[in-house]
Amino acid sequence: MTIPPHKYQPKYRFTKWLDDRLPLIRLFHDVMGGGYLVPRNLSWLWNFGALAGIALTLQIVTGLALAMHYIASSSEAFNSIEAIMRYVNLGWLIRYGHMVGASLFFAALYIHMLRGVYYGSYKAPREMIWLIGVVLFMLSMATAFLGYTLAWGQMSYWASQVITGLFSVVPFFGEHIRIWVLGGFTPNTATVNRFFVLHFTLPFVILGVVGLHIWALHRKGSGNPTGIEVTKAEDVVPMHPYYIAKDAVAVGVFLLIFCSLLFFCPNIVSDPDNYVPANNLVTPPHIKPEWYFWPFYAILRSFTVDFLWVPAKMWGVIGMGLSVFCWFLLPWLDNAPVRSGRYRPLFRLFFLFFLLDMAILGFCGRQPAEEPWIRLGQFASLYYFAFFFVILPVLPVFEKTLPVPKSLEESGYPKTTVPLNQPPKKGEGA
Ligand code: HEM
Repeated sequence: MTIPPHKYQPKYRFTKWLDDRLPLIRLFHDVMGGGYLVPRNLSWLWNFGALAGIALTLQIVTGLALAMHYIASSSEAFNSIEAIMRYVNLGWLIRYGHMVGASLFFAALYIHMLRGVYYGSYKAPREMIWLIGVVLFMLSMATAFLGYTLAWGQMSYWASQVITGLFSVVPFFGEHIRIWVLGGFTPNTATVNRFFVLHFTLPFVILGVVGLHIWALHRKGSGNPTGIEVTKAEDVVPMHPYYIAKDAVAVGVFLLIFCSLLFFCPNIVSDPDNYVPANNLVTPPHIKPEWYFWPFYAILRSFTVDFLWVPAKMWGVIGMGLSVFCWFLLPWLDNAPVRSGRYRPLFRLFFLFFLLDMAILGFCGRQPAEEPWIRLGQFASLYYFAFFFVILPVLPVFEKTLPVPKSLEESGYPKTTVPLNQPPKKGEGA
């Protein structure tokens, strides 16, 4: 963005002294204060990055409190969580907060990512923000899987068996890798210990990568629903107070939903089998992961026949890996000249089907591995890959796009007369 942002000027003796030695306030001012200029037409869908950040913070805080009481051993893990729920002061709140928080973190993340797809947020010049985002998604999935194992209930135990079992498809070394990852032939104390260490560490890695994500965002500036780059001083507002206030409202609504789930139905998405201690002699009739993995789990199970000398299980692992990896390729798969889905009627239709398809995949991933869910999952997997590898690259050839406006005013946003790129003075409205 070429519009000059508001520069931080320390007013008091202390802030001047601090700014000279450690410009921390300047950093905040430039990243999320008056120094960061944002298009004035962002919709509520642009709040979900901040919400993902809030949910991540919540997970770290509740996670630290849980770690103070958790015992990472196969004989004690389950009991230590029950003890947290019953005997630790407000332990139930901390534990349920961590469980519900994980679900809301993924809900915010999925909306954030799908917003990106609809508005073409991954297109040049914001490819790097997107790529770092996909790394964040993968790290978050790894962290969630490791955390789920720690509960050491039946579903935790068997989910860790299934997922680490996927390593066994690697030719020649597969079984060795699986045993090396588990620290034994089956999940055991060594497994809980290493999963705990990794589950504790990864959120801090995620935090660091979020820093890179925001850094990359600041290099190119935020996009907006029209997809056009804003160049006029009248079309931007400083992050503070305008979007900080809007984010605060979104955080309020988010906390309302969080508290409603936490206090009234904390187990709404958890599996009752996970309240049964892990038992390696009893396999649950239907092993399934947490809801945010269901679509990818359905893709894993959609490969049911061996072909090209490759076993079905290996195809499943390749398919599931590709279903995540293809998000990296989006900036290059979608070469449409128009960025925002607002001006792409045909894309909008296929995107709607894609949302439906993700829901169907999720539904199939939740069901037992039997017909008709496997067949339905296969059709849904087919559309999933077709969306990435056929529809997005080919669509621009046929699509008649709507005229893209040249400015925010032309796209229907009311004209502003005052340049808004400076924070308002005391007592002055926007
Ligand atoms: C821990 C996870 C994440 C956090 C905390 C986070 C945070 C943020 C924040 C605060 C913003 C600016 C506000 C907004 O546009 O919503 C943002 C922008 C963005 N994020 Fe993320 N993000 C995360 C994960 C992801 C993922 C998984 C993706 C995509 C795969 C992604 C892609 C983007 C893109 C493309 C933008 C720029 C959008 C635009 O300005 O048009 N982010 N992110």
